[in-house]
Amino acid sequence: MTLYLRRRAAFSAGFKQPPPGETGRGHDYLVEMTVAGEIDPKTGMVINIKDVDAVLKAQVVGPLHGRLLDDEVPLLRGLLPTPENIVRALWDPCASALPVLGRLARLTLWPSSSHKVELSQMSPEEEPMPKPMLTVTRTYDFSASHRLHSAALTESENAEIFGKCNWENGHGHNYEIEVTLAGNPDPRTGQLWDSAGLDKIVSEEVLLPYDHKHLNYDAPDFRSLNPTSENLTKVIWDNLFRRLSAEDLGGVRLYRVAVRETPRNYFEYFGE
Ligand code: NI
Repeated sequence: MTLYLRRRAAFSAGFKQPPPGETGRGHDYLVEMTVAGEIDPKTGMVINIKDVDAVLKAQVVGPLHGRLLDDEVPLLRGLLPTPENIVRALWDPCASALPVLGRLARLTLWPSSSHKVELSQMSPEEEPMPKPMLTVTRTYDFSASHRLHSAALTESENAEIFGKCNWENGHGHNYEIEVTLAGNPDPRTGQLWDSAGLDKIVSEEVLLPYDHKHLNYDAPDFRSLNPTSENLTKVIWDNLFRRLSAEDLGGVRLYRVAVRETPRNYFEYFGE
């Protein structure tokens, strides 16, 4: 039996010289530590949240808050202060500072709300993995209309299965999509892959063809494919996978595509 708990903290830090992929002088970072362990029958807790806070304070916020990451932080000496390098540098100090009852399962860093970097020892099924995996997730949004309608079903079957989503003139959503890459950072840039390069591909493959469009009529991908969020997730994966396969990614791979259709609906695909 393993339980996972998460605790967040915030810190602000800057750069003397912005690393690759950075346009600004610093960030208000959000950091989250996921701790795994068994419930202690005496306390009813895995680990006291006060102890997790103490680790975050001593190992993350204390050393990094208000500092120039490339100039004033001994932990990052000689490293480009990219989010990828920051989480990798923080992993061992955080893991060894936790009380023995808790095991560091994941360290997540958000330099901004649309950019997330994670070092995780948990698989998507939240099972332990042999070594931590580094992922970078970028979030994008677009607005589009669609009509749920399958050519393989009769009019009355479509009406029954899709209900008001089958309304012939369609309806709209503000979609949010997440694209996750996994691998090791390029030592020359400290990044998994060029964020601007990923943004450009997502823009060409997703935002330009879908934003402010009616998916059924305006997007060739859905001329004969019902634009459900399941199909949208899979089509976005296929298009990004095809484009990324033509790039030199080193050891980096597309790991996950997720689509949030509404605040209540979320779809994920891992390519298999
Ligand atoms: Ni809909």
